[in-house]
Amino acid sequence: MSSQHKSVQDQLVHAGRPAKIDGRHVNLPIELGSTIVFDSLAKFEAARDARYQTGTMYYGRYGNEASFQLECALADLDHADGVTLTSSGVAAISLTLLTFALPGTHLLVADNVYANTRAFCDKVLSRQNVTIEYFDPMIGSGLSDLITHETCAIMVEAPGSGTLEVPDIPAIAQVARTAGVPSVIDSTWATPIFCQPLTLDVDVVVASCSKYLSGHSDCMLGMIASTQAYHDQIRGTVMAVGDKTGGQEIFLLLRGLRTLKVRMEAIDKAGRGIAAWLDAQPQVKRLLHPAFDSCPGHAHWKRDFTGAAGLFGVVFQPCSDDQIRAFVDALHHFGIGVSWGGYESLVLPVTPTRTSTRWDEDGQLVRFNIGLDDPDTLKADLAAALPLLNS
Ligand SMILES: Cc1ncc(COP(=O)(O)O)c(C=O)c1O
Repeated sequence: MSSQHKSVQDQLVHAGRPAKIDGRHVNLPIELGSTIVFDSLAKFEAARDARYQTGTMYYGRYGNEASFQLECALADLDHADGVTLTSSGVAAISLTLLTFALPGTHLLVADNVYANTRAFCDKVLSRQNVTIEYFDPMIGSGLSDLITHETCAIMVEAPGSGTLEVPDIPAIAQVARTAGVPSVIDSTWATPIFCQPLTLDVDVVVASCSKYLSGHSDCMLGMIASTQAYHDQIRGTVMAVGDKTGGQEIFLLLRGLRTLKVRMEAIDKAGRGIAAWLDAQPQVKRLLHPAFDSCPGHAHWKRDFTGAAGLFGVVFQPCSDDQIRAFVDALHHFGIGVSWGGYESLVLPVTPTRTSTRWDEDGQLVRFNIGLDDPDTLKADLAAALPLLNS
């Protein structure tokens, strides 16, 4: 049975494993290696000529059986023609943008993208004479007014991982298709369990696999999934730059995928429960959770997503920095740290960077990542700390 006909849960359970296992371990071993040898020069030359293709064993840097299996599994989940793994989510984003953004071109980037996407654009691409134009993430089809003859790509994040606005993905994809430029979406938050942007006519999906896809905060990887039109081009950049994924990370990501759907469903339920509870507290001014109508783009979320991840934001009533610091420090079941998408719960005050739109909230934005802790424990922790924000 082809993976196209399997349920997502079955795809996750069987991904990368032989259809029949007899007298051996359930999981594939960790595959380590650099040199691959051949017993004829003709075979070596054939492998060398096809070394950028998924499935060609030529040299460790270009992939091995485990990484190819993983790429195929991820391509099935995202309905992609091909996937290329990268050493991190940032590498997936930067190598995709590097493929399209040639000197003299114009790159459209949503104003709410992840800080390191912005850093790559401002610190690296702009030095290569690429003009970066940030746009309102809620612009929708109005984006067509910003397209120029030089536009090389459109980069969005859905939802923005800091401020959680959900853009109109099909409208942006349509603007890109009409203009003949690739649309790139960072879909780390939703994972293919809750949204498959390629089915909404997006051309390229990038994601950090360090987050939900691996799910245990023990692995760093990224992925680029795309239609055939862009797959070879982007894979060529990744291979030419020499970005490399390690055998242990590949093993951990494949292991994490087995539980992706059950983790996402549990996190969705817990996240929505805690978000609704927080929303009812007097210290909370505004909830930024895509599944709630106080979040910009909630209607887009309802239309294009089938669930919500556990990362959301809360704008508190205006209070002092010291009060926010005391509140965050008083939480015992939330770690303070960047990243998210693991089983652990996290909290972090966030100051959005905006250059084409304004962030007008006068209260402090705090980002929560709900993991797999008992939601009642998390609520009790929050309930004990919230009075520290009272004026
Ligand atoms: C939305 C988003 N994309 C990409 C990344 C980068 O992923 P990585 O940490 O795997 O480089 C992050 C990391 O926080 C992120 O939040």
